[in-house]
Amino acid sequence: MAAAAGKQTTEGWSSRWGFILAATGSAVGLGNLWRFPSEAGTNGGGAFVIFYIFCVVLIGLPVLLSETLIGRHGKADAIESTKTVARDSGASTAWSALAGIGMLGAFLILTFYSVIAGWVIYYIGLFAGDVATSIGNGALLGGAFQGESLEQVQGYLPALFADNGLMIGLHALFMAVTVFVIARGVGGGIEKIAVYLMPTFFILLIGITLYSLATGAAGEAFAFLFAFDPSRLLHGNVMLSALGQAFFSLSLGSAMMITYGAYADRKTNLASTSAIIAAADTSVAIIAGLAIFPIVFAAGLASDSGPTLMFQVLPASFQTMPAGSFIGLLFFVMVLFAALTSSVALLEAPTAWVMKRLGLPRAVTAIGLGILAFAIGILSAMSFNSLENWHPLNFSIFEGQNFFSIVDIFTGKILLPLSAFLVSVFVGWIADKRLTDDENGISGGLHLTWRFLIAWLCPIAVGAILVFGLIS
Ligand code: PHE
Repeated sequence: MAAAAGKQTTEGWSSRWGFILAATGSAVGLGNLWRFPSEAGTNGGGAFVIFYIFCVVLIGLPVLLSETLIGRHGKADAIESTKTVARDSGASTAWSALAGIGMLGAFLILTFYSVIAGWVIYYIGLFAGDVATSIGNGALLGGAFQGESLEQVQGYLPALFADNGLMIGLHALFMAVTVFVIARGVGGGIEKIAVYLMPTFFILLIGITLYSLATGAAGEAFAFLFAFDPSRLLHGNVMLSALGQAFFSLSLGSAMMITYGAYADRKTNLASTSAIIAAADTSVAIIAGLAIFPIVFAAGLASDSGPTLMFQVLPASFQTMPAGSFIGLLFFVMVLFAALTSSVALLEAPTAWVMKRLGLPRAVTAIGLGILAFAIGILSAMSFNSLENWHPLNFSIFEGQNFFSIVDIFTGKILLPLSAFLVSVFVGWIADKRLTDDENGISGGLHLTWRFLIAWLCPIAVGAILVFGLIS
């Protein structure tokens, strides 16, 4: 039943917790801290949040379990693992295209993810400098950027965007760290950083949230995130954004959970592990909202979309908060940790495949792919500067979009949902039920529910995002 000898991976997690931390680290990232709050903000708060939770439980979780079980059955890179499941089910190995599409998606996301992570490094520098200034003035307990106007603080982002060299340099730095971790391997690289960074991340997140709720506008933030306005729910766009966000946030459709699943041992219960990963990821998204919005509302500012919320509105909001520069510094360090445990996952999915395929050492593969992703990412960095009005694919859904937005749309609206759609059709209809049932670790009513969701609800809902995403 196993894959052809030599293709199976010899690497693996040292324990079930290693897997949980690494996979949670992959899921928790800029998607939770940067995109979720701004998506919730622009899509009507509570209605979006409630629908988001439905999407995670009914659609995200069944797909997550399916992806990890494909990987664990094949015990190889995502393409090889999918081929093994197909072969063992008597189906065409062409189904491995689902992993190839996901892998391409992961690689392309990495190209711009690293650019945004570079901005995070820049803000760590800004806040660190401000902490030093505040200590010098004996004013560490005051707000951040004292004596600067709101315009000045908000001006840091356009100033960064105006400096191509700086943006590209920080992008290079972040990519280099990502490559370094992947070169060190699964246990010695990915798992090791997850074991250190994820607990630190959780402590920072809880600390900052408590601070924010205690000193900021907690009531307003709760009302904003949880007030339920059913009229917003029926809005098709809100539903599509929630489903798309759930996929991105859980790292689905990117071959990544297949890749990480392959490093899990046969004893690991995939269903409960997937549930823990999904629950942790969703909690972090919601808690991140409770960390960010009380600060923003206390400053009398409003939620905003895109990069602005985290990189303009939030820093300005720290101006009015006690110990604003210090907490701001901790906040951006926390974001960087989350981004790094995600970027390594994005690089690992293609690395695992390329190194086996070309027979190259892991380090050489990681460096090669890292350089390629870096080079492509330069165009995304410059999309905030000189290439802002360059529209390389001026048709259909890409019309009027610059390079960065094209990669974002192509991955988020096409590659990831397409791969996840194929995963649900493959596991729901094509793969041998004895094989998938044997891997998944659930029985009884829960098992029947999963079968129903993966065969019916998932392909229909994901197929719908794909179609509406393309026509709207
Ligand atoms: N889930 C990550 C985030 O929320 C992004 C990601 C997508 C990581 C796909 C790996 C694969 O930031």
